[in-house]
Amino acid sequence: MRDYLIASSILSADFARLGAEVEAVLAADADVVHFDVMDNHYVPNLTVGPLVCTSLRKHGIVAPIDVHLMVRPVDRLVEDFAAAGATFISFHPEASEHVDRTIGLIRELGCRPGLVLNPATTLECLDYTLEKLDLVLVMSVNPGFGGQAFIASVLNKVRAIRARLDALDLPAGREIRLEVDGGVKIGNIGEVAAAGADMFVAGSAIFGSDDYAQTIADMRKQITAAVG
Ligand code: DX5
Ligand code: ZN
Repeated sequence: MRDYLIASSILSADFARLGAEVEAVLAADADVVHFDVMDNHYVPNLTVGPLVCTSLRKHGIVAPIDVHLMVRPVDRLVEDFAAAGATFISFHPEASEHVDRTIGLIRELGCRPGLVLNPATTLECLDYTLEKLDLVLVMSVNPGFGGQAFIASVLNKVRAIRARLDALDLPAGREIRLEVDGGVKIGNIGEVAAAGADMFVAGSAIFGSDDYAQTIADMRKQITAAVG
C-alpha cells in the first residue's frame, strides 16, 4: 500500500450508478472506497447496508473497502459487513457496549479494525485499544452528512494521535493508519497531512468535481508539498 491513501467516500456518489461511480473514482487513482453506513439512530441519516457492499464486490471491485459504521448497536453489522467483503471496519466507541469485544470480533472475522473519534471525543478511548487497531479515524465534521465544513480544531487531535502512534513499538510489517474524515479538500489536505494523517476521506470534494482524476492528482500534489 502507498504511504498516503485517498479514500473516496461514496456518500457523495450518484447512487443510481454506484458501480460505475466506484470504478471511475478508482480509475482516477483513489486508493480506497470509503463506505458510510448510517442508521437514522446513531446519526440522523440513513444510507446503505451490507447488501450494497456485496454488490460492489460482485461487480468486480477489488480495492480495499473502508466501512465506516455510524450505527448502534454495532456487532451484528460487523458480522454482515465481514461477510460482504469489507476490508476495514471502523465504529464509534460510544455506540458499542463492549469496545474491546467489537475490536476482537472485527479482527476474528478477518477484517481490519478501526475506532472513530468524533470532534468532541477525547483520546482516552485509545488508552487500552490503540495497539489492537489497524486504523484510527478522526472525524473533522460531526458524523451524518457529506459536504460539511472542516473543523480545524481537530488538527491538534490528529497531531496528538500521531505522537502516540509514533511512540508505539510496533512489530515490523504492522501498521496503524491515521485517517481524517469530513470536509477534506484540495485546499486543506496539505495541513491534514502535515498534522500526521496518512489516509484521507474525501466525498464531495471528489464526486462534486468535474474531473475526479485531476482532483485526486491535485490532492496528492498538496500532500507531497506538505510532507515531501
Ligand atoms: C460523514 C461521513 C463522511 C462524509 C464525508 O458522516 O463519515 O465520510 O461522506 O464527506 P465530505 O468529504 O463531503 O465531507
Ligand atoms: Zn465516513
